[in-house]
Amino acid sequence: MTSGSRTVLVTGGAGYIASHCIVELLNEGYQVVAVDNFANAVEDPQASGFPESLKRVEQITGKKCIFHKADMNDTQALNAIFQKHEIYCIIHCAALKAVGESVQKPLEYYKSNVGGSINLLMVARNAGVKRFVFSSSATVYGNPQYLPIDEKHPVGVGITNPYGQTKYMVEVILQDLHKSDAAWDIILLRYFNPVGSHESGRIGEDPQGPPNNLMPFVAQVAVGRQPELKVFGSDYDTKDGTGVRDYIHVVDLAKGHVAALKKFEKSFGLKVYNLGTGQGYSVLEMVEAFKKASGRDIQYRKVDRRGGDVPTVYGSAALAEKELNWKCEKGLDDMCRDLWRWQEQNPKGFANK
Ligand code: WQD
Repeated sequence: MTSGSRTVLVTGGAGYIASHCIVELLNEGYQVVAVDNFANAVEDPQASGFPESLKRVEQITGKKCIFHKADMNDTQALNAIFQKHEIYCIIHCAALKAVGESVQKPLEYYKSNVGGSINLLMVARNAGVKRFVFSSSATVYGNPQYLPIDEKHPVGVGITNPYGQTKYMVEVILQDLHKSDAAWDIILLRYFNPVGSHESGRIGEDPQGPPNNLMPFVAQVAVGRQPELKVFGSDYDTKDGTGVRDYIHVVDLAKGHVAALKKFEKSFGLKVYNLGTGQGYSVLEMVEAFKKASGRDIQYRKVDRRGGDVPTVYGSAALAEKELNWKCEKGLDDMCRDLWRWQEQNPKGFANK
């Protein structure tokens, strides 16, 4: 079988990370079956039941993407998908992802992110599909004990919210699964802070309600959807007192998934890779870079620290570079320029009402 005829199941397929992954997969000649429950997605007004984001993915790539509406906890629906398509491997991005909300609704988060993952894994196992890429997060590292964080850094200590716990728990489940049956090939991708959008400006991050994350918030200030940015904490021990993170362009991140899939050509077990740039930027540096890219002023005000935040996080992606032959090609100006293109062309996101 050539890679061109291989079918990749992408869960959370209508979402921010997955839709960018699907562009790269289609460009590389993979077939894609996307699944999403529309918890966080907008329908194409002309084709109900099909996500607007994937309609645009098809326009960008000139290729078709198969879509099924299903929840990860719906065993029957998942079984039907695995019966209908010959799945080569799974990229599992489906999850609830709002950190603050996870503190309010822990049961919903554990059910969706942990329960949903277990259900998907059982259905996959029963169908004989044992190649799995998991969308994990640098949040599993907790408060860094050293920098840059590499994959040997301890995990599971000092995670401050249920969302982060769910990512850690699914990692543990996958480790145990692999120990029980070496036929599983599993890749855990620990993302740092994904930002930006596809350079077409046609797809991007579309938060429902006020954004929790820095860059979508900054972009909404630039178009007047939010009055001002609150900078959470200006007394950290960092270059300018504000929090430092490792922001990675979402297209680089998506290409990291395709690089990971190539590892499945030979059986290799369970592997963990950081996907980041190795470079940290402060909140104020991000604001300045976005001002430059957009030509808009960004009003901001320094306020108290946000609970659960740590001063500085950045990772080493040396292992991914060495073993996946992958490395970030895009820098801060690209991230800001592409985010701005998406925000300016779609001031209200996919709904554009
Ligand atoms: C970045 C910096 C804030 C908003 C979180 C999750 C993580 C992952 C990504 C994903 C920090 C500051 C932010 C604002 C601000 N989750 N900030 N004003 O906290 O590194 O990671 O999102 O699905 O699991 O923990 O990202 O973008 O929220 O914050 O000053 O309005 O920006 O304090 O220093 P974070 P972030």
